[in-house]
Amino acid sequence: MTAAVLTGLGTALPARLVTNEELSTRLDTTDEWIRTRTGIGQRFWSSGESTGDLAAAAGERALAAARVSEVDMVVLATTTPDHPCPATAPEVASRLGLGHAAAFDIAAVCSGFVYALAIASAAISAGLTGRALVIGAETYSTILDPEDRSTSVIFGDGAGAVVLEPGEAGAPGSFAGFDLGSDGAGRELIQVPGGGSRERTGADGAEGRYFTMRGKAVFKEAVTRMAGSASKLLASVGWAKDSVDLLVGHQANTRILHALADHLGVPRESVVVDLDRVGNTSAASIPLALARAAAEHRLRPGDRVLLSAFGGGLTWGSTALVWPELPIGTH
Ligand code: ACO
Repeated sequence: MTAAVLTGLGTALPARLVTNEELSTRLDTTDEWIRTRTGIGQRFWSSGESTGDLAAAAGERALAAARVSEVDMVVLATTTPDHPCPATAPEVASRLGLGHAAAFDIAAVCSGFVYALAIASAAISAGLTGRALVIGAETYSTILDPEDRSTSVIFGDGAGAVVLEPGEAGAPGSFAGFDLGSDGAGRELIQVPGGGSRERTGADGAEGRYFTMRGKAVFKEAVTRMAGSASKLLASVGWAKDSVDLLVGHQANTRILHALADHLGVPRESVVVDLDRVGNTSAASIPLALARAAAEHRLRPGDRVLLSAFGGGLTWGSTALVWPELPIGTH
C-alpha cells in the first residue's frame, strides 16, 4: 500500500528575540512567573515578516533538505493567514516556484499541523496527489493584545515544514495512523471573536480583533484531549505505551506536557520541550520541536515518535511514526 513518507524538514523563525525580561518592563509580569507557570524563557516575534514569509522560508528549507523542487500539493496550517481572503498557501507555492500545485490553508489552530499531515497523507495514499509540502506557520504577535499579560507572554511566531512523498507503508518516516477530533462546544475557550461573519470588525477596529484564551479551562482540556487522542492512536496502530521513545506534544506549557506524559504512562524524560526557546507557536510548534530534538540528537533513526496536538476549536489530533534518516534545514 502507498503511504506518505517524511523526506525533509525545514524551519524558520523571525529575527526578533523577545525575552521574558523585555515583557516584564511593560507588563505586570516577571521572568520567574512566566518560567514557573509555563516553562517559556523567550519567544521570537515578527518585526514585519508575515506568516507567508515564514512559511516560504521554512518550505524552501524543507524542499532543499529533501532535495526536491516540485510538489503537487501545498497544505498550510495557520490561524494567522496573510489575509482573510485568499488563503496564504497559493502565494507561498508560487513564491517557491511550485507551479500550479494544489494549495490551500487549514484552520485547526494549534492542532493544524497534525490535521494538515493527516490530509496530505490521506491524499498521497489515495493517489490524489504525489509529493506534498505541509507547513505550519504563525505570527500570533499580530493578534495578541499588547495589554493582556495572560496571552502576550505565551505565544511566539515561527514556521516548520515537511516534505511528504509516496512510499511504502511501514517504512521509516511513514505515518502509522492518525486520530483527529473536535468539540465546538468549547469554541469560546480560545478565540479571536471579531473579524468574521458573526462579529465584523473594520481594519482599524480594535474591538474583538485580539486573541483571547481561558487559560485554566484550556489547560485541563489540553491534557485530557491529547491524552485521550494519543491513547486511541497508540491502540489503533498497536504500539505499546512503553515502546514510545519520544513524545512531541503541542508546545503550550511544560506542565501540560508533563501531565500528558503522566496520563499516558510515558516517562517524562521522553518529552520534547521546545517552548523554553520559542514559546507557543501554535501550528508551527510540532515541526519546530521535531527540528530541535533532531538538532540535539534526541531523535535518532528508528526511534518511535508520538505526536499529539490540541488547540482552539476545540480541536485535537495525534499521529505516530518511526523516525527516518532525515535531512533538516533549520534557521
Ligand atoms: N504574569 C503574572 N501573573 C499572571 C500572568 C502573567 N503573565 N498571567 C496571568 N497571571 C495571574 C492571573 O491574573 C491570576 O491572578 P489572580 O490569581 O490574582 O487572579 C494568576 O496569575 C493565576 O492565573 P491563572 O490563569 O489561573 O494561571 P495558570 O496557572 O492557569 O497559568 C496559563 C495560566 C499559563 C495560561 C495556563 O493556564 C495554561 O498554560 N493554559 C493552557 C494554555 C494552552 O494549552 N494553550 C494551548 C492551546 S492555545 C491555541 O490553541 C491557540
